Amino acid sequence: MTPRQKAQDILTVLGSVEAEHRTLQSLLLRHQESLVGLDFSSALGVLEDFARRTCRHRRVEEDDLLPVYSKLSEVPPDGEPEIFLQEHREIEEQLDSLLTAARSISPSGDRRAVAVLVEQAARLRVAIEQHIRREEKTLLPALRAQLAPK
Ligand SMILES: [Fe+2]
Ligand SMILES: [Fe+2]
Repeated sequence: MTPRQKAQDILTVLGSVEAEHRTLQSLLLRHQESLVGLDFSSALGVLEDFARRTCRHRRVEEDDLLPVYSKLSEVPPDGEPEIFLQEHREIEEQLDSLLTAARSISPSGDRRAVAVLVEQAARLRVAIEQHIRREEKTLLPALRAQLAPK
């Protein structure tokens, strides 16, 4: 593969990563909506879909984007590659614990357990929003600028 083809490939990946961000945001919102509607089976189904997509998404960023990004001569402030890896780990931990809680909730939905779940989902949403904002302000535009045909 020529360097130009490789750059083109990564530019295509950037577009799909951005589109996937919108999907992830809307899935997490749907999860929260199902929770407050006390529809636990839909809340869990949506969250499992979210988790599968997040895992794939993370792999693409870590395998295809961050290695190229790390080699840029300069990365934007607040966009050091380690920050993304750290945030990925934190999001994964939060997501794992939310999944465990969502799987163990009883169909009758003990109120305290529901309240804890709602709070955990809200915390995860804040972390995801902040992470996506960072990627869309630093990682994605810096790669686009570097790889766009001159
Ligand atoms: Fe990410
Ligand atoms: Fe991302």
